[in-house]
Amino acid sequence: KRLIDHIGLLWTMSSGSAVQDAQPLCGRTAMQEVGAVTDAAIAIDEEGMIAAIGKSKELQTVIDAQTEIIDANNGFVCPGFVDPHTHLVHGGSREHELPMRLAGADYLDILRMGGGIMSTVQMTRECTEQQLYEQAQKSLLRMRSYGVTCVEAKTGYGLTAATEEKQLRVAKALEQKMAMRFVHTALPAHALPLERKDMRERFVKEAAQMYLELSRQGAEFADVFVDDGAFTIEEGRYLLETAKTAGMKIKLHADELVPLGGAELAAELGAVSADHLLVASDEGLEAMAQAGVLAVCLPGTSFYLQKKPARARFMIDEAQLGVALATDYNPGSAPSENFLLMLSLALFTLRMTPEEIFVAATRNAAAAVDRCAVAGVLRPGRAADVVIFDAPNPQYVLTHYGIQHVARVLVKGEVVYS
Ligand code: NIG
Ligand code: FE
Repeated sequence: KRLIDHIGLLWTMSSGSAVQDAQPLCGRTAMQEVGAVTDAAIAIDEEGMIAAIGKSKELQTVIDAQTEIIDANNGFVCPGFVDPHTHLVHGGSREHELPMRLAGADYLDILRMGGGIMSTVQMTRECTEQQLYEQAQKSLLRMRSYGVTCVEAKTGYGLTAATEEKQLRVAKALEQKMAMRFVHTALPAHALPLERKDMRERFVKEAAQMYLELSRQGAEFADVFVDDGAFTIEEGRYLLETAKTAGMKIKLHADELVPLGGAELAAELGAVSADHLLVASDEGLEAMAQAGVLAVCLPGTSFYLQKKPARARFMIDEAQLGVALATDYNPGSAPSENFLLMLSLALFTLRMTPEEIFVAATRNAAAAVDRCAVAGVLRPGRAADVVIFDAPNPQYVLTHYGIQHVARVLVKGEVVYS
């Protein structure tokens, strides 16, 4: 038994009832709901589940000789973060692209020259499972140190059945080993591999089979990179409809570089989320809201690629979307595991409020990977996945940016980072 005591400010992200808490918060009014408690404490049972949340004074009664007290030092506390979009498992890194980028080449130029995703595909194919495992484990430890307790992991750097399955196996092995919650996503349609350069149709057919096989091996979501230099709307529709027939849930890399109508496709297919959305149309974003699709904004990616950020204010204020945040951690467009930095970028580049940012990083991020019923909210009966900050409030965390403010991370009631 444990008691997290002396919490200066707790944001539970709860709206009250268990039924409500299993839903994302959409639109401007709802996204301010943080379930704040001051001078709080969280009682955790032997199974690592939350037994009670309340004022510290009221919870002193639960303390007995067996209770271990975790002192939050009057700091800010919130639910473990959910990172709903990462390319966790990959070989190598891409800092060698830096001179090209500094000389003015943009993301698609580098991809067209056979670099970009292609160079990571080659390195991933060449790596052993052990090498991929070790590299990804290092990233996971970094992510967790910044408060992430649930992570989505995509394939997408294999582009053949054998290597896509290898990536999934590595993510599943890490799931067994690391105290973190995992969500597995298949992304075999991430790019057209060099060996299929002039065989588009053939690759799209192969990719369709890869989704089905990856689903059998435990991938829950199917994702497609629909964009210039990647796959068309028609190809995306065909692949995701195929994945749907196998019972997979849908995500899209949508309208990142060129406005092809990825947001509209996400709405049409009833996707759980559409991600990036830098150049998504008003109509597409409104159609997503109508269809209950969440918008995942990736402020680290727009920052790194020096693109105009997603229109989070339009999404929240006008389209009344539920917005979530993620790192997009990958070697080419978002090489940082620092989730807190993404939250600061959301403040400054997306102009989201602190309340919206924490909703987007917890409850809505959980919803973006269909984990709303188990993650992203602190309430009795849920796992005690908790972040304790060495900071008095969320505004301090966000504005004092680029700094490690996390004092402790708990997963299922166990301290996994301190
Ligand atoms: O989400 N946009 C496409 N895919 C990744 C980047 C992958 C890479 O460059 O290696 C993304 O940004
Ligand atoms: Fe991505």
